[in-house]
Amino acid sequence: MRAGRDPKRRSETWNSLVLSRRGFCLGGLLVLGLCCWDVLGVATPDQVKPIIAMEQLLWVSGSVIGEVNTFRIPLIAATPRGTLLAFSEARKHSSSDIGAKFIALRRSQDKGATWSPTSFIVDDGSLADGLNLGAVAVDWEKDIVFLVYTLCAHYHQCTTASTMIIRSRDDGVTWSVPRNLSEDIGTTMFAPGPGYGIQKRYAPKKGRLIVCGHGTLTRDGISCLLSDDHGLTWRYGRQPLHGIPYGETKLLSDFNPDECQPYELPDGSVVINARNQNFYHCSCRIVIRSYDACETLPLENVTFDMTLVDPAVAAGALVKSGLVFFSNPAHERERINMTLRWSFTNGSSWWKEPLQIWSGASGYSSMTALDGSAPEDAQSLFIIYEKGRLTSTDSVSVAKISIDGKL
Ligand SMILES: *[C@@H]1O[C@H](CO)[C@@H](O)[C@H](O)[C@H]1NC(C)=O
Ligand SMILES: *[C@@H]1O[C@H](CO)[C@@H](O)[C@H](O)[C@H]1NC(C)=O
Ligand SMILES: *[C@@H]1O[C@H](CO)[C@@H](O)[C@H](O)[C@H]1NC(C)=O
Ligand SMILES: *[C@@H]1O[C@H](CO)[C@@H](O)[C@H](O)[C@H]1NC(C)=O
Repeated sequence: MRAGRDPKRRSETWNSLVLSRRGFCLGGLLVLGLCCWDVLGVATPDQVKPIIAMEQLLWVSGSVIGEVNTFRIPLIAATPRGTLLAFSEARKHSSSDIGAKFIALRRSQDKGATWSPTSFIVDDGSLADGLNLGAVAVDWEKDIVFLVYTLCAHYHQCTTASTMIIRSRDDGVTWSVPRNLSEDIGTTMFAPGPGYGIQKRYAPKKGRLIVCGHGTLTRDGISCLLSDDHGLTWRYGRQPLHGIPYGETKLLSDFNPDECQPYELPDGSVVINARNQNFYHCSCRIVIRSYDACETLPLENVTFDMTLVDPAVAAGALVKSGLVFFSNPAHERERINMTLRWSFTNGSSWWKEPLQIWSGASGYSSMTALDGSAPEDAQSLFIIYEKGRLTSTDSVSVAKISIDGKL
């Protein structure tokens, strides 16, 4: 519960839950259980029956929206004001990772029911190796939204990679001019996410902003950008997780941790769930756990989650209402079968019956959840993902999931 971080909001949340207990629980113990497991943190399997409550396409590729060739790399974030922000790369001329792009944004102020028209909040002009998303990070204490992206990630007709950041102080309506973070952190290529950055809610380093990402495919590995002053200054953690062999072109089954999504567990540790680019050990996810707020990503705390079968892709992970959720195209080789899993055990095991979101072509995904006091917010999460009939890059879709299976 994010509400726990702000004393004022905490009391509102508690009051509304107390009210809902008084209001509804006269109806019986079953309702008492349903209205209160979020607070007590004791969800049981019979209370967690996720369904797709609503789904809509936000962007369609193929030059049918503003002549944009392809929309890819969807990100989603909830803000402290209860707004949902959906972002994607709008690739101007082709589906390639390289090339000129916009950053597209749509906002929803009614819990995903309707979305604003697309605004293009960054335009890289006609760069040969244009922008790549990226991670959205929300500072819940200061009500600021950050978006981090990369320029020249592939060194295609350019020699210096830059890590860029933009900031919104008005809930995503307007954005700052891009700031070149490479002036502070250097020009080593850093590809954030794709997904969201976290703000630590528990010690150690409560309030720290953490954005994790990966390097180039040869000089790969995972590192995290940290900010302890609400996004004014950023630095890398002391010890990244390198690929092996370090700095060399990787072969099939070399260790090559890649695109990644961090989340914080209630004990204050951070788990980074990462793409296993070269299928080291398995066609499954790499899991890194940091006990020092991502200052170090020690090899001794790297494991492989054999249940999370994965074709090497950017996946979604989210802690919500005491559960850990995970989304990816659950297949060893192909980007198909978008699947949502959940864990009652802090991610150490996964419930035996996952929810299939889309059987067909599906690629990158990212998740978020609103954090208001409405009971609906405790029971909803949002998955944004690449979805298609023929290929996963056909469109970007957002699905609203009802966790308890009630609409
Ligand atoms: C960002 O800063 C770095 C380091 O000063 C510089 O090399 C690079 O050209 C800058 N990038 C942009 C897009 O201005
Ligand atoms: C690795 O994980 C263990 C718990 O399994 C923890 O006690 C230890 O501090 C971690 N190592 C580092 C360097 O963080
Ligand atoms: C889709 O994922 C589910 C859950 O892991 C799995 O049981 C099923 O075999 C998958 N379907 C395909 C076609 O891979
Ligand atoms: C999850 O982690 C929290 C915090 O460490 C702990 O209190 C809880 O017992 C854990 N849950 C399970 C099922 O292991």
